[in-house]
Amino acid sequence: MYPIDLSGKKGVVFGVANDRSIAWAISQVLAQAGAQLALTYHNDRLKDRVARLADTLDDAIILPCDASDDEQIESVFREVGQAFGEISFLVHSIAFANREDLAGRFADTGREGFRVALDVSAYTLIPLVRHAAPLMTGGGSVIAMTFEASQKVYPGYNVMGTAKAALEHSVRQLAAEFGGDNIRVNAISAGPIETLAARGIHGFMDMKKIHAERAPLKRNIVAEEVANTALFLCSNMSSGITGSIIPVDAGYHIMAV
Ligand SMILES: NC(=O)c1ccc[n+]([C@@H]2O[C@H](COP(=O)([O-])OP(=O)(O)OC[C@H]3O[C@@H](n4cnc5c(N)ncnc54)[C@H](O)[C@@H]3O)[C@@H](O)[C@H]2O)c1
Repeated sequence: MYPIDLSGKKGVVFGVANDRSIAWAISQVLAQAGAQLALTYHNDRLKDRVARLADTLDDAIILPCDASDDEQIESVFREVGQAFGEISFLVHSIAFANREDLAGRFADTGREGFRVALDVSAYTLIPLVRHAAPLMTGGGSVIAMTFEASQKVYPGYNVMGTAKAALEHSVRQLAAEFGGDNIRVNAISAGPIETLAARGIHGFMDMKKIHAERAPLKRNIVAEEVANTALFLCSNMSSGITGSIIPVDAGYHIMAV
């Protein structure tokens, strides 16, 4: 058995694209701990792959959700409500920016590129929490995924840093608003992990190498370490923690050089 038992707990994970997705590492750990999951997939192109992954978990269901579409968000939570009744956790592991906005000059970010990045990567947390909250009748835990580029300049990260700053602010705002319902909202600030989204960032491999050299633990993190932190955040072991940005980055964020 897992060190933390989530038997009988149910929740929704947004952001599985493939077996390298951080959301997939989280899904596996939560399922191994006994939780029942609904996984959403972004579009039809990803459906079969996410279905195959979900088949390896006990009792998982999959649902379509393009999170930039309010009707699809509503439909996910309607179906989750019907299938699960109540839920106790929600994982937001979604981000997108146009490739041209993840390289070159930040000053050249266009209005539409800015809108898309902020909409998909930050705004979406708000309606997801708004729709999840009524299903979290016994309290709940919401986890978003962020990166240190919200606070410091990472060349190449550009508008995604702006989006992560907005996401982290939204985490605090939502934590304050839903705390009275015993719904906790936190973000994990992960060190670099090679995923589909990460590959879109110009200079990602160099950044990953520098992290490993400078981090106190002298290595990069692996997705399972993020997933274990998510397990802790989904459990009552973290009952006193909300509105926090928790670094899982081998300590990189404490270093000045
Ligand atoms: N990989 C890293 O180094 C790293 C570090 C820190 C934070 N993060 C964050 O972790 C989260 C997950 O990213 P990942 O690295 O696992 O990459 P990933 O590509 O596996 O996951 C990104 C997910 O976002 C989904 N998505 C994009 N647009 C969407 C939309 N409109 N509607 C619904 N889903 C949509 C994709 O389908 C995909 O599943 C992101 O928020 C990312 O910024 C990643």
